[in-house]
Amino acid sequence: MTTAWGWSDRLSLSYEPMDETHQEFVQLCAALAEDNPATFVQRLDALIEHSVHHFDQENIWMTETAFPPAACHKQEHDAVLEVMQEVRRRVASGEEDLAVRLAEELPHWFEHHVDTMDNMLARFMLTQSRQNAELQDAQQLSA
Ligand SMILES: [Fe+2]
Ligand SMILES: [Fe+2]
Repeated sequence: MTTAWGWSDRLSLSYEPMDETHQEFVQLCAALAEDNPATFVQRLDALIEHSVHHFDQENIWMTETAFPPAACHKQEHDAVLEVMQEVRRRVASGEEDLAVRLAEELPHWFEHHVDTMDNMLARFMLTQSRQNAELQDAQQLSA
């Protein structure tokens, strides 16, 4: 028997606002694997709604911090959202096997995305806020 996919420390990026959002993504994404075709579209809608806000928040952080690979990161968000919406349309019109494929593929996409783009963004924001704090300390000392 395979263990159900879920949150683990392996996914933590030590940046609390992002980890909280990612826990919600993992919960909604893992719920797609539930074997109940009658409610799949409803569960996918919940994940899509979450993802729109999740990705918007990260896109805002990237703009605020002038994150260099912002375009590349945003493109990954747009692409996966497009896949979710396409699967939603096709499952709703009878291609139910795509539901299982999406539920299997999304955890892999997410783990890779967290390891690369989100990890880089979290490190970048943590470094920036540490540098800002150091700058403020230095300014107070010289005042
Ligand atoms: Fe994320
Ligand atoms: Fe992201």
